[in-house]
Amino acid sequence: MKGLVVKEKTGIQIDYDLEKPSPATGEVLIRVCSASINPYDVESAAGVYDAYFKEYGFDKPVQTGLEFSGVVETKGSKFNPGDRVFGYVHLITGWKTHAEYITIPESFIAPMPPNLSFQQAAALPLGIMTSLAVYEDLVQNKLNLNVLIIGAAGGIGVYATQIGKLFNHRITTVVGQKNTDFIKNLGADEVHASESFAIAESTEKYDLILDFSTRLTLKDCQKTLAKDGIFVPALPDDTNGGNSEHKQVGYLMVMQGDGLKLAKASHWIESNDIVPVIEATYSFNDYIKALAHLDNKGKTGRIVMTLVP
Ligand SMILES: NC(=O)c1ccc[n+]([C@@H]2O[C@H](COP(=O)([O-])OP(=O)(O)OC[C@H]3O[C@@H](n4cnc5c(N)ncnc54)[C@H](OP(=O)(O)O)[C@@H]3O)[C@@H](O)[C@H]2O)c1
Repeated sequence: MKGLVVKEKTGIQIDYDLEKPSPATGEVLIRVCSASINPYDVESAAGVYDAYFKEYGFDKPVQTGLEFSGVVETKGSKFNPGDRVFGYVHLITGWKTHAEYITIPESFIAPMPPNLSFQQAAALPLGIMTSLAVYEDLVQNKLNLNVLIIGAAGGIGVYATQIGKLFNHRITTVVGQKNTDFIKNLGADEVHASESFAIAESTEKYDLILDFSTRLTLKDCQKTLAKDGIFVPALPDDTNGGNSEHKQVGYLMVMQGDGLKLAKASHWIESNDIVPVIEATYSFNDYIKALAHLDNKGKTGRIVMTLVP
């Protein structure tokens, strides 16, 4: 089967001779129909997760691709051959989704919402999982918060914006000038153009600041946080304060798929309360063009590769 592999000298490239995986207990084999490209893929190819791969004994040939849609090939305890599913893998261990076939724990996947194409379904799981990790877990299902989302037009932000509205939050977004109308139409209550927005000058106080631009630190945001407010950096580390146990920080780390969370979001998808946002689609064989597209500024939502139309 074919899949993308990371070579030390050439980076991400296609390999047509990978061995088709066999599911372990609790897993199913899936034929991947669509898979998105994420910032994670470039980070992973650049070695950002190598220490974790080593620590967890990661032993699969494919290390890029976090979300997918596809068709179940083997019988599990919940899923049957022919079921259309979507899901998010484990961030470090197990098969990644830039491959024709993957094996994955049944608990990581959910039936695909029937109103979606494979391409649309592959653009959703990571955004849903991350948004629910914030709204359900970090702020414990609180409603009516004053939320600031920086980088709201990107692959996670488009879902954090939509799902935030479902928790009755007031959503203020910061996006590039070209995407201000787009994000307003997606449901944002207030929109700032990133070109003219400086958090240090904001007079508003927020209960939650989500930074998907990965540019801000806790120090940058402290003056703008409400009493008991929290700052959530997308890539928590020592430099942005995300790794600290500071009470004004929410530690965000979505380690693995959760079929129950995805199934819950499916109801919202079927009622069009969450819509998938796709920046561009590419055939899997055009992965080099798809990866290059990741560098473009002003994207909206996800870039998706198609293996089976
Ligand atoms: N911790 C976790 O569990 C977790 C889970 C999921 C994702 N992540 C991380 O979250 C980050 C975002 O992921 P993504 O998929 O949403 O990436 P993405 O699609 O590249 O979106 C990032 C967004 O940030 C915007 N941005 C960049 N610089 C900006 C600035 N100075 N001001 C305002 N906006 C700015 C970009 O807009 P322009 O294109 O206009 O610059 C883009 O819309 C990634 O680093 C990813 O690895 C973490």
